[in-house]
Amino acid sequence: MDEPYMDEPWWTRSVGYQIYVRSYADANGDGLGDLPGILERIDHVAWLGADVVWINPFFPSPMRDAGYDVADYCGVDDRFGQIADFDAVVARAHELGLRVVIDVVPNHTSSDHPWFVAARSARDDPYRDYYIWRDPAPDGGPPNNWASVFGGRAWTYDDATGQYWLHLFLPQMPDLNWAHPAVADEFDAILRFWLERGVDGFRVDVAHALTKHPALPDLPEVTELADGRRPLTGASRTFDGLAHVYDFDQPDNVEVYRRWRRVVAEHDALLLGEVYLLDAAAVRRYVADQSGLHLSFWFGPLHCDWDADALRATLREAVAELGRWVSWPLGNHDRPRTASAFGGGAPGRERALALATLMFGLPGLPFVYQGEELGLDDVEVPVDQLQDPIARHSTPERARDRARTPMPWEPVPGFGFTTGGTQPWLPFGPRTDADTVAGQRADPDSTLRRYRALVAVRREVGDLTADTPTRWLDAPGEAVIAYRRGDALVVANTGDDPVAWPLPAGRWRVRFSSTSPDDERRTIVGEAALAPRQALVLTPDPSDPPAAG
Ligand code: NOJ
Repeated sequence: MDEPYMDEPWWTRSVGYQIYVRSYADANGDGLGDLPGILERIDHVAWLGADVVWINPFFPSPMRDAGYDVADYCGVDDRFGQIADFDAVVARAHELGLRVVIDVVPNHTSSDHPWFVAARSARDDPYRDYYIWRDPAPDGGPPNNWASVFGGRAWTYDDATGQYWLHLFLPQMPDLNWAHPAVADEFDAILRFWLERGVDGFRVDVAHALTKHPALPDLPEVTELADGRRPLTGASRTFDGLAHVYDFDQPDNVEVYRRWRRVVAEHDALLLGEVYLLDAAAVRRYVADQSGLHLSFWFGPLHCDWDADALRATLREAVAELGRWVSWPLGNHDRPRTASAFGGGAPGRERALALATLMFGLPGLPFVYQGEELGLDDVEVPVDQLQDPIARHSTPERARDRARTPMPWEPVPGFGFTTGGTQPWLPFGPRTDADTVAGQRADPDSTLRRYRALVAVRREVGDLTADTPTRWLDAPGEAVIAYRRGDALVVANTGDDPVAWPLPAGRWRVRFSSTSPDDERRTIVGEAALAPRQALVLTPDPSDPPAAG
């Protein structure tokens, strides 16, 4: 194992784990996950070998968007516990050597937030300008053609004060006005509040959208996307049909993060942005000079089909543009589970693990979404049980509930998530004993055991996380994706047929295999016989190192 690198930020060689609090563990038996539940089960993250947890919102909220509609930034919703429970989670995490990252949600508040309640009360209220208000268009309609990510228009009319307010998400999630200096002051204080409680960083929600073009011009329509790039997708066709050039990615966004960087620097804390732009050159502006965000998520792979060329293009694009300042989400609470996205069942699970292997060997911070380490599939939630506002506002088929169902911990009624007999907030679906953490811990061939071995190999093979160039060894059109990092070599067969892949000269030791522990510690020469959907991490055999190159 490598010595710690004292001159590097603590996240450089870390592995992240995303805890979706609503579905991680329910300690009080009401069917909803909570902070005491996290306390009971956080050892799992340490056992897996991860170093950082990101905990999704637990703040007081009317829960119209699962807590991303915040009514009080400096508290804990009763449904999740008390502030003392949060302190206990942080203390336990730190005891286990884990860092704690929480969400900051600066693009919008809940309409129940006291700022918005005041802002809506009168045009001359001191809080009015915390939000974005405009007069109706001459025909009485909305001030421009902007659309909500969740469907419908981005404007709602307020009868009492005769103006529209802007909301890029639900009407009950009004956008803050970052052109107003008081808003920036408020958020400095919010960051400090949590830093002083011991948090180690923030995941910045909707980091690409805080500031808007001051003139709020109409958005042009998407006619044709240059070089085949995927459009940004929301829940509605209206949103997808617009080019988001005035609502997203405005130049002043980075100014907000430059300011925050000074705040978090006092605590050696991480700023990890949800910069949801499927163009790495655009994302680069947020991290490249390291004066704003430390890292940004790169969502490209979560928007790819299982296609070698598409995957290699998106991996290469991120490595080229973002270097070490990238975070790789292995699923999240907004996207289909990776096993389902890549075909479902055993092949989907194997593909997801092959992609995870590729991401773990690249520079950056991989983030495992809870349940991905079990290879879980999406759950088909009956339409009348969908909770996601996307289901009600536009397109049930895009509802995110399928990836948000509760963690199966143990093969008992309630799956160890909640007490037997309690209905969880979303159904478990057809989970089996083999899906549970306990079941997979007991099985040496399980996905969970493979994941744990993958986390360990990343720690053991220092070249994978070193500040060293990535040398790609593959070519467009091939089923194999392969690269070298220092002396280490990572190779994945994305295809459904076996491949004999020619190795660089020398003897190679298999340090990790995504499909079976039996392959590990073997030494191979000449070619790697890759099973369908198999990924390997190889290092030179010390008895006969291969030629450099
Ligand atoms: C991104 C979050 O991940 C998502 O769950 C939420 O709905 C939107 N931001 C709005 O806050």
